[in-house]
Amino acid sequence: MSPPRLPRSFLLACVFLRSVLLALAQGSVTDYAPVTNIPCPNISSDPLIRVFTPQNQSLHPEEEAYISTRESTVLPDAWSDWIGNGSNIGYNMSLFQGNLPKIGIAISGGGYRAALYGAGVLSGFDARVPASKKAGTGGLLQVSSYLSALSGSIYFNDFPNITDMVNGNDELSGWILDLDLATPDGVDLFNDDNQHFYGSIVWSVMAKAALAINFFTNDSGHGAGQIWSDMPAIPSFAQHQVPMPIIMADSRPVDDNSTGALPPGPVVYEITPFEFGSWDPNLSAMMNLSFTGTHLNNGQPDNDTACVQRFDQTGFVMGTSASLFNQILDVATNTLSGFGDDGAGLLYVLKRQLQEVRTRADDVANWPNPFNGVKPDTFEDSGSRWLELVDGSTNGENVPLGQLFVKARNLDVVVGVDASANDANDWPNGSSIIASQNRMNTILNTSHQGFPPIPATEEDFISMGVRERPTFFGCNPTQNPPEFPLMIYMPNSPPLNGDNPVSNTGTFKLSYTALHTQLFLQQVLDNVNGGFLPNSNSPDPDFGKCVQCAAIDRARFRLSPVPARSNYCAQCFVRYCFDPNDPPSVDEVPGRQQVFVDPQPTGFSKIEDLFKDHKAAWIGGGVGLIVLMAGLIGFLYVLL
Ligand SMILES: *[C@@H]1O[C@H](CO)[C@@H](O)[C@H](O)[C@H]1NC(C)=O
Ligand SMILES: *[C@@H]1O[C@H](CO)[C@@H](O)[C@H](O)[C@H]1NC(C)=O
Ligand SMILES: *[C@@H]1O[C@H](CO)[C@@H](O)[C@H](O)[C@H]1NC(C)=O
Ligand SMILES: *[C@@H]1O[C@H](CO)[C@@H](O)[C@H](O)[C@H]1NC(C)=O
Ligand SMILES: *[C@@H]1O[C@H](CO)[C@@H](O)[C@H](O)[C@H]1NC(C)=O
Ligand SMILES: *[C@@H]1O[C@H](CO)[C@@H](O)[C@H](O)[C@H]1NC(C)=O
Ligand SMILES: *[C@@H]1O[C@H](CO)[C@@H](O)[C@H](O)[C@H]1NC(C)=O
Ligand SMILES: *[C@@H]1O[C@H](CO)[C@@H](O)[C@H](O)[C@H]1NC(C)=O
Ligand SMILES: *[C@@H]1O[C@H](CO)[C@@H](O)[C@H](O)[C@H]1NC(C)=O
Ligand SMILES: *[C@@H]1O[C@H](CO)[C@@H](O)[C@H](O)[C@H]1NC(C)=O
Ligand SMILES: *[C@@H]1O[C@H](CO)[C@@H](O)[C@H](O)[C@H]1NC(C)=O
Ligand SMILES: *[C@@H]1O[C@H](CO)[C@@H](O)[C@H](O)[C@H]1NC(C)=O
Repeated sequence: MSPPRLPRSFLLACVFLRSVLLALAQGSVTDYAPVTNIPCPNISSDPLIRVFTPQNQSLHPEEEAYISTRESTVLPDAWSDWIGNGSNIGYNMSLFQGNLPKIGIAISGGGYRAALYGAGVLSGFDARVPASKKAGTGGLLQVSSYLSALSGSIYFNDFPNITDMVNGNDELSGWILDLDLATPDGVDLFNDDNQHFYGSIVWSVMAKAALAINFFTNDSGHGAGQIWSDMPAIPSFAQHQVPMPIIMADSRPVDDNSTGALPPGPVVYEITPFEFGSWDPNLSAMMNLSFTGTHLNNGQPDNDTACVQRFDQTGFVMGTSASLFNQILDVATNTLSGFGDDGAGLLYVLKRQLQEVRTRADDVANWPNPFNGVKPDTFEDSGSRWLELVDGSTNGENVPLGQLFVKARNLDVVVGVDASANDANDWPNGSSIIASQNRMNTILNTSHQGFPPIPATEEDFISMGVRERPTFFGCNPTQNPPEFPLMIYMPNSPPLNGDNPVSNTGTFKLSYTALHTQLFLQQVLDNVNGGFLPNSNSPDPDFGKCVQCAAIDRARFRLSPVPARSNYCAQCFVRYCFDPNDPPSVDEVPGRQQVFVDPQPTGFSKIEDLFKDHKAAWIGGGVGLIVLMAGLIGFLYVLL
């Protein structure tokens, strides 16, 4: 993992703008704008929305087809490459007759920290990474059906392996995390390179730069990636090689106007490559993604020749989810302007970006409401012409688990990748998972699966050590079919070997040196490959196989009679399963260092300290916010 030397003299842009560049590369800056006045489909034969209830919810036929085709054509080999004939974990795989569990992975928000942590965990589960293959964890990614996140740039690079994505390769520039996002050429806002950088964010300067972009794949004129609903044309997607992505966003009820955290009530939306909408019982409706941007009333366009397309620009979709919009201007304008050049730089960038995408309020992503008139008795924005979408973590759910619990998706195993920064050292304390449990067990109890038992409070997450090691939740359902999926919880935690941690960086750290990036990924990889051994600082040589046990366990429940868990897996489950009646203790994870030690200090970062000092003002997204303006995972490209 030796990252290439990164060139210094270049412009840089985040993926938020990438769709623009793509459009420019194809000729016209106006391609970025949605196309309006398109003839609408015949609504009586080809409706643009579908409305259902928690009781009769169903997947979009194309989602159904994607998942089932992947299941029949790609997953059998992936399972077999990973688990073989099962003899290593005490099963005869042919027993299951190919009827294997359906798995989804949820990657949390939290700025570059979360993006890097997510990348490290995916590496740890990626069969293409030799260390992970050897440890036995590598393979889980390949057998997964869904990946939910607050962003999806990984897909628009045709799913490179993580090392290539972060560090770059011949065709892909990598994330360039050693450049400060706000002021890439150091703290002097007015030096030439910084000016160049800001200039580059303005459309007109980008045309020239755009000609030099290199993408990971050179198929199809690079049209794929420009809009979200084009994803099916990307080669890895067309071949069903990747889990299906789901991006989520919260909504702020229109006229609510709040800039802080949201309660659990407001509707949570999702964006798949096919649809935009919500499974929440009070809405339960989806819209054809290609036509988002069109105002509909009771499913009818205002005018049959005035439909909108190309609204679902990749950058806008990611920016919506990642809260470029909410809170930032309202809170930031006041907070940042008093704080010198760093603040000014960031504000400038934000304002320029917002100008290009906003249609109404400054502080949210405004989507024309396709569900106007739908479910007037329960849907809070039924009467509104617009929806106000904000960061997907604003309601406290920093790990996008809800999408993976939707009943119609019928998942057996959910992997929760949690890089929330909850305590003083920026480690998670379970608050996101607890928020998801609350929402799922109350508001969503008719539309979503149940939530497995977890430690009841954040204090329990801490005292039981459950935030410092991988844990399996819900190993032993009391019903068949099980009332909840099995959950593999992968919190960002200190290196198991007692090294100083480098992965608990602040949410507002906007630049990482190449060395830091590399050590960060390595520490996460080692933890994911190593699991934990109680009362020890050594990796667990069985962890990979224990993950295999967790992945396969629900297959037993599809057989009648339900066969016993293998002895091997039963031992794993004693170590890794959470038993509320016999909870583990933090004493079993000794010698972990909690305090971040910068592997390569690069001097005082005003902007980061500023955000630290004013953290209280940033509740809500609490998490992603500014950094996520780059679109969470992602997202920086060399242009010249
Ligand atoms: C419908 O939209 C078209 C533009 O696509 C416009 O020319 C026409 O006047 C509109 N019709 C009505 C009834 O608003
Ligand atoms: C729209 O579809 C309906 C139902 O298939 C059909 O009866 C109607 O003729 C179609 N309208 C037009 C304008 O094609
Ligand atoms: C689901 O049920 C509701 C009311 O029970 C009905 O209005 C709706 O058409 C049904 N939707 C589907 C997709 O079956
Ligand atoms: C299962 O695979 C292992 C290793 O690939 C092999 O040694 C063993 O004989 C196989 N068992 C059966 C029953 O095929
Ligand atoms: C595994 O199951 C298959 C089919 O039931 C059987 O043919 C095979 O012999 C079994 N292998 C072992 C090692 O039991
Ligand atoms: C990632 O893929 C590249 C080929 O593009 C390969 O050279 C490299 O070894 C891979 N990295 C890992 C960690 O597998
Ligand atoms: C890009 O195109 C060149 C020339 O057609 C081809 O050799 C190369 O394999 C392509 N690269 C990818 C990643 O498809
Ligand atoms: C939100 O702002 C709008 C427009 O400024 C105003 O009309 C509305 O009363 C406000 N709502 C609340 C709850 O303050
Ligand atoms: C969206 O609508 C168009 C026109 O009816 C249709 O061709 C396309 O398949 C629809 N897409 C989805 C995902 O429903
Ligand atoms: C759903 O709608 C009902 C009826 O309007 C309302 O009482 C309830 O608060 C809504 N639930 C949520 C979560 O908004
Ligand atoms: C856990 O984190 C949340 C959110 O960061 C915080 O409000 C709460 O006080 C923390 N709980 C404990 C017990 O430290
Ligand atoms: C769902 O949760 C609500 C509380 O929000 C409760 O009143 C209701 O009984 C629950 N329904 C089911 C089916 O568990």
